Amino acid sequence: MNYFHFLLIAIFFILPVRGDSLSVYSPDNVVGVQFFLVEGVPYYSVQRFGRDVVQKSRLGFELQDIPDLKTGFTINDVTNTHHDVTWKQVWGEKKYIRNYYNELRIDLVERGELKREMTIVFRAYDDGIGFRYEIPEQPAIGEFNIMNELTEFALTGDHEAWWIGAYQWNRFEYLYENTPLSEVDTVHTHFTLRTENDLYLSFHEAAVVDYSTMALERTHDYTLQVNLFPWADGVKVRTAAPMVTPWRTIQMADDPGGLITSYLILNLNESNKIEDTTWIKPGKYVGIWWEMHIGKSTWEIGPNHGATTENAKRYIDFAAEHNFDHVLVEGWNKGWEGDWYADGVVFDFTTPYPDFDLAGVAQYALDNGVRIMGHHETSANILNYEEQMEDAFALYEELGVRAVKTGYVGHGTEIVWYDEDDNENHEWHHGQFMVEHHQRVVELAAKHRISLNVHEGVKDTGLRRTWPNLMTREVARGQEYNAWGGEGGNPPDHVVILPFTRNLSGPFDYTPGIVELHYDEYRPDNRINSTLAGELALYVIIHSPLQMAADLPENYEARPDVFQFIKDVPADWYDTKVLHASIGNYVTIIRKDHNSDDWYLGSITDENGRILEASLSFLDAGKEYVAEIYRDGKNADWINNPYDIVIEEKVVDSSMTMQLRLATSGGQAIRFRPL
Ligand code: NOJ
Repeated sequence: MNYFHFLLIAIFFILPVRGDSLSVYSPDNVVGVQFFLVEGVPYYSVQRFGRDVVQKSRLGFELQDIPDLKTGFTINDVTNTHHDVTWKQVWGEKKYIRNYYNELRIDLVERGELKREMTIVFRAYDDGIGFRYEIPEQPAIGEFNIMNELTEFALTGDHEAWWIGAYQWNRFEYLYENTPLSEVDTVHTHFTLRTENDLYLSFHEAAVVDYSTMALERTHDYTLQVNLFPWADGVKVRTAAPMVTPWRTIQMADDPGGLITSYLILNLNESNKIEDTTWIKPGKYVGIWWEMHIGKSTWEIGPNHGATTENAKRYIDFAAEHNFDHVLVEGWNKGWEGDWYADGVVFDFTTPYPDFDLAGVAQYALDNGVRIMGHHETSANILNYEEQMEDAFALYEELGVRAVKTGYVGHGTEIVWYDEDDNENHEWHHGQFMVEHHQRVVELAAKHRISLNVHEGVKDTGLRRTWPNLMTREVARGQEYNAWGGEGGNPPDHVVILPFTRNLSGPFDYTPGIVELHYDEYRPDNRINSTLAGELALYVIIHSPLQMAADLPENYEARPDVFQFIKDVPADWYDTKVLHASIGNYVTIIRKDHNSDDWYLGSITDENGRILEASLSFLDAGKEYVAEIYRDGKNADWINNPYDIVIEEKVVDSSMTMQLRLATSGGQAIRFRPL
């Protein structure tokens, strides 16, 4: 198609053409994207209500050994389409999700001899944009290596930013920084910002398959550029035409709560590829876990070994009595001897320690209506894991295991493999090597009808829509830092930043529910840095379809009234709304149970106590509900009096407003059940 045809199409679709630019607007005309070529170089810009969000920003690639794909383009074809489809999640924070956008596809072709083709696709949503590159099959490109993706985001000012730095040894496990954009260097995504006009933005990516994940590098002033985690030899992506890149995404909202209820990332992923999903079940678990983290028992075999047959049966009895679905058993297999978190040691994924009767315990669990949650700690020794994982998943399937927690502890570049010339290569946890590894694991797990809970993995880019057995992951600083983290663990504001950063990308196995907030006998310098009510509220705030009750059974037995909330709260939701949101300060989320008419509310605050007004208009009108309230007591204070909790019931209806009084680093958790 020539330029004349392109113009005709533009007129046909009443496509606004400004000079040489092509535009697409979101269905309600909230967000607009302009694409344009300047002397053959592709650029785009983004507006919200006509005001610039991203100014003229470059697009394109630098390639290895062949000419770059960044200049000399003309427009070959343009297609503009409208989409409005509502789809159903297998599980999640909302059952039905509307995928409502306008798409602009621009087929570019090089003017020179090679005449290579590249398509850029923009999707404009009312809550943001996604765009990606597609390199179609063509004679002039076969296999090729990307050395640099040139995608830029030229922002409009020195926005306030929440971020963690990329390329650090401990991967994503850092506290968030809160600085002006001008103090940012290279950061992981989600990267969240507040503009001077109180617009909230979050940058991320969707559907990272067979590509590297990206960080964002501030190249100058307020301009960020995609920075792909490289392979050991410096190549960013090894690929071949036809190929598509991940979607580069910007979520936008007037209120930070709007970021939480934006489903743009999921919408940009492919639909579910698993036909029979009946075996993929959200649920709750307990496990032999916290006791190792606080130092009460050990992963490795010895006098204090945690994963003994006897101890596992104790947890199974507890899980059965209180209706939990899985019992996680860590430290069950050979390989934990020595410095397992530092050495990339060789684990054996099919041989239990002699004091752990794997088959017997798994059967005991099944006999009691519970299942073992398996555990594969790889210590980032991928070669060792890949050699065994087929057998390891087959074994778990045979034993009736339906969920496996995987782990990749190890320094950022500890992943080692040998190429054909026997060179030792050290890979990042977030590069294409690991993206490919994780894809192999999720597909293998699906074959064995097993769901995954991935720790120290690649960040979530919404692949759970395509592979719903990819249920949850860690990839952030979770509860374990309160067991042994330096400087006392996670400070109070950590959990009020997470919902607007890490949690935007998907479910987080934060492992809440510690009710014995001090463990002085084992770790006198650490504690849970909130009140008891605050800890309960995390079950509503932090979504995970596999949700842990992380404390020791004896601690729950000592507080049955508090434990009741943890037993009641679901792990699968029909709907989610945000009542209050202020990044790093407070957040209130309400969620409707997927399997009943109950609603749940969770509200938390940072180190400042506060009162928030919660309208109950989300409840069905004309219906009475019993509110089962777990709130900070009058004298609650996270440092001196964190256990002061009031548990009470009130009859409420949708016309009422409740005052949520949150103590310092406190919270409130409420179950609303129809009377
Ligand atoms: C780190 C994980 O986050 C934690 O949950 C696990 O217990 C240890 N690694 C051991 O695998």
